[in-house]
Amino acid sequence: MITLKEVNENNFRAIVGMKLNEEQSKYVASNVYSLAQAWLYPVEAKPYAIYNDEEVIGFMMLDWDEKERECGIWRFMIGTNQQGKGYGRKALEYALNIIRASGKFDHVFLDYVPSNVVGKHLYESMGFVETGEIEEGEIVVKLDLT
Ligand SMILES: CC(C)(COP(=O)(O)OP(=O)(O)OC[C@H]1O[C@@H](n2cnc3c(N)ncnc32)[C@H](O)[C@@H]1OP(=O)(O)O)[C@@H](O)C(=O)NCCC(=O)NCCS
Repeated sequence: MITLKEVNENNFRAIVGMKLNEEQSKYVASNVYSLAQAWLYPVEAKPYAIYNDEEVIGFMMLDWDEKERECGIWRFMIGTNQQGKGYGRKALEYALNIIRASGKFDHVFLDYVPSNVVGKHLYESMGFVETGEIEEGEIVVKLDLT
């Protein structure tokens, strides 16, 4: 079963050690970089390990902006050898349930590099729509929760 657990001393080594191939490395910052940002922005950043049962298979970081009632999927990756098994979709569904259940948000945002066709397909199939904005070369998409 796919679940998300906050990054902690038991799972951070697996997160830090998780690498993507050269092509996919363009799509998301390294997990070390993301964890450093989580330290810089402790109020907004919520970093999670993605588990398949007891195994750490991915990483996600939310941008928890309660003031604006907007939550961002700031970072998201599934380890290379675990991709294409439906885990990314399940992890995103799990994250959306956390966000919805909090009752603190009206929208979920994320952005992706235009060449990331897997990401585009996944997000659109889950109801995200383009806002028309481009942020630092990335396509911004939004999901309304209201
Ligand atoms: C994007 C990512 C998180 C998706 O995770 P995943 O576990 O591989 O995705 P899933 O197996 O749940 O598949 C999701 C959908 O993408 C499709 N897909 C997955 N891998 C694919 C591939 N290599 N080529 C084409 N389609 C693919 C699946 O068919 C599925 O669509 P469907 O349910 O309509 O059949 C993962 O590919 C990844 O970490 N990529 C590199 C980092 C990245 O791009 N992060 C997102 C930044 S915005």
